[in-house]
This record gives sequence, C-alpha cells and structure tokens, in this order.
Amino acid sequence: MKYRLPEINDKDILQKYVQEHHNNGETSISASLGLSSSDYTEWVTKIKNNALSGDEQWGKSLLYLCFDGDRLIGLLSVRYELPEVLSEKYGDIGYGVRPSERNKGYATAMLKYALSVCKEKGMEKVILGCYKENLASAATIQKNGGTLIAENENYKEGRTSQYYLIRL
Ligand SMILES: CC(C)(COP(=O)(O)OP(=O)(O)OC[C@H]1O[C@@H](n2cnc3c(N)ncnc32)[C@H](O)[C@@H]1OP(=O)(O)O)[C@@H](O)C(=O)NCCC(=O)NCCS
Repeated sequence: MKYRLPEINDKDILQKYVQEHHNNGETSISASLGLSSSDYTEWVTKIKNNALSGDEQWGKSLLYLCFDGDRLIGLLSVRYELPEVLSEKYGDIGYGVRPSERNKGYATAMLKYALSVCKEKGMEKVILGCYKENLASAATIQKNGGTLIAENENYKEGRTSQYYLIRL
C-alpha cells in the first residue's frame, strides 16, 4: 500500500469515498477530521498544518490517504504527539476503510504502518480506542498486538468504549 497526505486534486476521489459511505448508510467517516462537513481547500490546509506545525491542543498529526494502486482504500490518522489525557480518551490512531474494501486485510495493514510511524517518531506505546461492539476494529487491533486495558472501559450514552495498549 501507499500512504500520503491529501492534495487539492484529491477532491474527486475523496468525494466518491464519502459518497460510498453515505450509500452504505454511514454518516460519520472515520479518521476524516470533518472532511464531509468542511470546505475542501480549508480541510487540505488544516491537514497540512497539522503535519507541519501541529495544533496547540493535539500536537502534530498525520492524516494519510491509503492507496492500493490508484484505488483509495481508507483513511489513517496518526496523532503521535497527543497529551496523555487525550490519548486515553480518543486513542493515538484512527482509521477507516471504504465499505466495498472491508474484510480484505487492509485495516490490519494500515494499523501496522501507523505503528511503524509512531515508533519512528519515538513513541514507546500507543493507545487505541474502539466501541465494544466494533468487532472488526477490535480484531484489527488484536492482530497488531493490542491488549485490552480492562480498567479503562467506560459506558456512555448507551455504548461501551474499550481501550487497547500496544507497546512498540
Ligand atoms: C474497522 C474497519 C476499519 C476494519 O477494516 P477491514 O479492512 O475490514 O479490517 P481487516 O480486513 O484488516 O480485518 C481485521 C480483522 O477484523 C475481522 N473482521 C472484519 N470485519 C468484521 C466484522 N464485520 N465482524 C467481525 N470481525 C470482522 C477480520 O476477520 C479480521 O480478523 P481475522 O483476520 O482474525 O479474521 C472497517 O470495518 C471500517 O472502516 N469500519 C468503519 C469505521 C471504523 O469502525 N473505524 C474504526 C473506529 S475504532
């Protein structure tokens, strides 16, 4: 797979990516940092700023478009400078795969790549969060060596969030 930041001329492929989720009945696009509700040019600028100078609260972060050949497969958010309190709440890494490409091993490969980036940035561990019922995401994390942090489980608005630790 190939991983790179978004460019201005990715607008069409990202629109199709979002549309495919909507057609599948999904309104929120994982790891997209508000793509579907933002002006596209402003969104690209924000992603580039996050990579270069970072955000005061979130630190520097990378949002990768993940390709297999020319096909956009998924989005991958690597928040490698998160303060501990945000890391424990949101997780250091987020990802999503377009509906038509799920269950083919892509998320497992994307998370593996994200972990290599985190290691390169000097992190010694990452925390990942997912809803308890999200079996695909939990399996993706476990396949990458994640272990459940049982004491961090929490229940809010009818859903249970779970957190996993991966040592790098
Ligand atoms: C979660 C998600 C990223 C997984 O992507 P994927 O590319 O389908 O994952 P993979 O193909 O790498 O599969 C990883 C594991 O999950 C399992 N899996 C995939 N879909 C599953 C499902 N619907 N139910 C249970 N397990 C599932 C796979 O079997 C595999 O485990 P195995 O090899 O032990 O069989 C994808 O379903 C998605 O984009 N969902 C919506 C967004 C989201 O939930 N993001 C994560 C937020 S925490």
